[in-house]
Amino acid sequence: MTEPASVARLVVLVSGSGSNLQALLDATADPGYGARVVAVGADRDGIAGLDRAAAAGVPSFVERVKDHPTRADWDKALTDRVAEHRPDLVISAGFLKLVGPEFLAAFGDRYLNTHNTLLPAFPGIHGPRDALAYGVKLTGATLFFVDAGMDTGPIVAQVAVPVRDDDDEDTLTERIKSAERRQLVEQVGRLVREGWTITGRKVTIP
Ligand code: GRF
Repeated sequence: MTEPASVARLVVLVSGSGSNLQALLDATADPGYGARVVAVGADRDGIAGLDRAAAAGVPSFVERVKDHPTRADWDKALTDRVAEHRPDLVISAGFLKLVGPEFLAAFGDRYLNTHNTLLPAFPGIHGPRDALAYGVKLTGATLFFVDAGMDTGPIVAQVAVPVRDDDDEDTLTERIKSAERRQLVEQVGRLVREGWTITGRKVTIP
């Protein structure tokens, strides 16, 4: 059956447990959401995120950096694999690789990432640990369009999460992830249903 033109095509990239992916898979089960996950890509085998894709009947692919002679070759291969699925939005949901220039040339205006701190504080892969070590009382999650930097692109939305006195890295990480998943689902839905513009650092959803 041909899908209505208004259903946006999402490609989701993962490297781990895929709980953000699962939130999107669950949300897109509702036709009124306005999008469906057409493929899941990963940079490694054997992760729960790929199992979640299989359980949902969504095709997946793996492109490992070490299977390519150079990082640029990997970037091109990843770009091609994603492009095959003609995405309206590409979403990095715990994808632990920085993409390269070819990928950004193809998808730079529609490549989202979700990060588990309030950027620009604590970029990188240990956000909650770094926030805890710094002693902040408030942290959160940031959804942004990816640019060539690490966690530096134009921000779509942020949600604040309190840090509790008895938090350790795990408890804080999980509290952030709950808020992060809700934000991801809500904002991806808004983007696909309403569209967006990016002007400099400013993202506007009409
Ligand atoms: C998210 O908290 C994301 O911000 C971070 O990694 C986590 C991915 O979790 N980069 P999951 O794989 O979606 O469960």
